[in-house]
Formats: sequence, structure tokens, C-alpha cells
Amino acid sequence: MNVNGKHYRTIWLKENDASTVQIIDQRWLPHQFVVEDLCTVQEVAAAIKEMHVRGAGLIGATAGFGMYLAALHAPEDDFARYLLESAEILKATRPTAVNLAYACHRQIDAIAQVDTRAEKIATAREMAQRITDEDAEFCRRVGENGLATIQAISEQKNGAPVNILTHCNAGWLAFVDYGSATAPIYAAHDAGIPVHVWVDETRPRNQGARLTAWELGQHGVPHTVIADNVGGHLMQHGEVDLCIVGTDRTTRTGDVGNKIGTYLKALAANDNGVPFYVALPSSTFDWEMRDGVREMPIEERGGDEVKRIQGLKDGEITTVLLTPADSPAKNFGFDVTPARLVTGLITERGVCAANEEGILGLYPEQRKN
Ligand code: MRU
Repeated sequence: MNVNGKHYRTIWLKENDASTVQIIDQRWLPHQFVVEDLCTVQEVAAAIKEMHVRGAGLIGATAGFGMYLAALHAPEDDFARYLLESAEILKATRPTAVNLAYACHRQIDAIAQVDTRAEKIATAREMAQRITDEDAEFCRRVGENGLATIQAISEQKNGAPVNILTHCNAGWLAFVDYGSATAPIYAAHDAGIPVHVWVDETRPRNQGARLTAWELGQHGVPHTVIADNVGGHLMQHGEVDLCIVGTDRTTRTGDVGNKIGTYLKALAANDNGVPFYVALPSSTFDWEMRDGVREMPIEERGGDEVKRIQGLKDGEITTVLLTPADSPAKNFGFDVTPARLVTGLITERGVCAANEEGILGLYPEQRKN
């Protein structure tokens, strides 16, 4: 996707320096566009934990590159142990996005297939790039597969703008390119279908207000930022034609873990007959998990993210206190939307019902005997 007319992905190897990974440091968007160098697995872990990078797909791609850096710096005589420890460090950074563990395991399996140190490093580099390229390609296909749904609504509305509500940032900043929830939106916009996006601000980190709004603006997609509590009111008044959100982990039965507040939007959509779609590349399915509400690990972050808010003042990025200084705050990062509230899953292989039969219809190789 483009930033001021120049194409960027969210993660890449530095030109002429294969020992440095570069990322867009999302903490400063939309006010400053900062590219950060990461040179060690420890720096990668900190970047994931402190949300320089964030979003399920990008967390997975970053972990893939983190494992490559680990291979690069692993001591010759203790290579395997160093790699396993690095995977544990990376996996401990954020618990909810399943892409993180998936990327670490893919790297460990791939590296184990070859013998010499040089081969292991080359394999890790290749795998990091493959995870990254796959994410971009899968998201592109998610866009193609979601396009028909938006097109059908546009035809029903005789070409009047299709109003789409989204939550958090499941855009290209949360992946490597295209995004998941935004991919069908970009595809529709690029195909000349008029769309308008209601962007939930998404407290406490404001990924919608800061990141989704910026992304859509860079691509020229009409959008309006709304406070998190507005969606239900808009749906009651026919102002939302469909919701499309992303996910950090979706069970094989179709329960959807996503940014905190998604469940409430799904309830409101259900009450108002508004279709509620979830867009995801298959790297976000947890094939082992069946009951999302009971089993999904939900990240709890520091209360300060709720108590303080960041913004621009006199050209400087500043953080201010919002609450009484000694009021305690709780900060759950994610919630689970039960499958029964989800109209459909938009994947790289097509759109399916949010249930085990629908999902396995697209991914038959995940059937268990
Ligand atoms: O905590 P974050 O910003 O990493 O949140 C993850 C997300 O971006 C959202 O939950 C998103 O909707 C799905 S992940 C692409």
C-alpha cells in the first residue's frame, strides 16, 4: 500500500544489509512516519510486546524475521537450544494472535530439516520471507473473495455508497500488505464501487482512529471516525450495510477472537439484521481450539493504556492523564464473538459459514480422523 504515493510493506530486510529488519514503528502514526531497524531477536520481541508492530498477520511475519535474526546470532555449539529459547521469548510477547506461535513453529521445523549453520541461516531467511509473502498474497485473495459481497449490496442500493463498519485496525498495517478486513474494502474502492467506512476509534489504543483512518485516507477511501459506542445507534438507523472485522485467532468451530469491543458490535449487528463478516488469512485459524470463549487466551495489558491518551499538541506527540490519578484500570485486549453471531468468514480460499462444517469445507486437510 502507498504512503504519500510510495509503496511500502510493513516489514522488510534492509537494502544491502541482510542482518537488519526494518519495520514501520506504528506508535507514532498518524502524526509521524518512522522506520525502525531491528537487529536482534530481543529487539524484535520488544517491538512486538510494546506494539511498534501489531495486528495478527504482522506479528506473525515479525516473529518469522525474529527467528531469522536468532539463527543469524545463534552460537555454533548451542544453535538448537538458542533457537528454541528465542521462540519462547517471541511467543511470550503477546498471547492472543495465533500467527505468532505458527510462525515460530514453521521456522523451527524448517531449520531442523537442514544440517549446516549456513544452510540453517539461509533456510530461516527464506522462511521469514515466505511467511511474509504468503501473508500479503492471502490478504490480496481475501480482498478478491470479499468483493462480491460488497458488490451485491451496492447493486441492491443502486450504486449508493455501501456503508461498512470496522473495528480496530485490520488493515495493511496489521498485516504485510492489503489487510484482512480492509482488503475487500480496498478491492471495492479500486473497482469503482462507492464505499464509506465507519471507523470505530477502538479505545484504549485507538487503532481505528489513529491507524485505520490514516490508512484509508492514504488510499483515498471515504471514511468517518466514530466513538466506540456509536455503532449500535447507526445500525438501528440503517446507516450500516455490513460490518467487516479482522481476527487474531479463530477456532475451528468459528468463534472469533478480536480486539476488545468486537463482541458488542456483533450483538448490535445481530439485533439489527446487519451482516457481520470476519476476514482472515488461514494463518489465523487455531485448528486445535473448539470453544473460543472458554479456551482462548486473552491478553491483559497495563492499566495505563486506559488511563492515559496520546495525541498531538503544538506539533509534539504527547500523552495526557484521563482519569483520576489513583483510579485503578483494567485493560483486556480482546474478546470472543461466538460463531452464531458471525454471518460469514472471508478467507483466501473463499467465503464460508462460521462453523466447523463450513470452515472444513474450505480447508479439508484440517479434518481429523
Ligand atoms: O492489539 P492489536 O492492535 O495487535 O490488535 C490486533 C488487531 O489489530 C485487531 O484485533 C484486528 O482487528 C485483528 S488482527 C489483524
